[in-house]
Amino acid sequence: MKKILIINGPNLNLLGKREPMVYGNASFEDYLAELRTKYPQHEIAYFQSNIEGEMINKIHEVGFDYDGIILNAGAYTHTSIALHDAIKAVTTPVVEVHISNVHARESFRHVSMISAACKGVIIGFGLNSYRLALESFL
Ligand code: DQA
Repeated sequence: MKKILIINGPNLNLLGKREPMVYGNASFEDYLAELRTKYPQHEIAYFQSNIEGEMINKIHEVGFDYDGIILNAGAYTHTSIALHDAIKAVTTPVVEVHISNVHARESFRHVSMISAACKGVIIGFGLNSYRLALESFL
């Protein structure tokens, strides 16, 4: 049994409603229920926050205990050195995910402040990005 935490950052609480052409029509809660059904032998915890410091606190809280963190930092990906440092500070490996292919979008999304601190990066497979990240830990 692996303990995995998914962290979603700002505006990802609106998945399903937010820019559906970019992010799809499914809510994250529905997708998470599917993931938990598909992997009943693993603990898949979930945390969402629109607040950078709360995401950092969560990484500190689980980051010496869990087997993996799947992090979609939303727009903080492109700005947050503090998240980079938090990922470096803990021992739990972190996989960065993005729903959309950020490299096919605006140039300000082409830079990630957190990739270099992460174990790997999965970008552009819709909500399946989370499943692929999960499987990387199993
Ligand atoms: C995102 C991409 C980011 O550029 C954006 O700010 C998001 C979502 C994605 O999952 O595609 O909020 O991380």
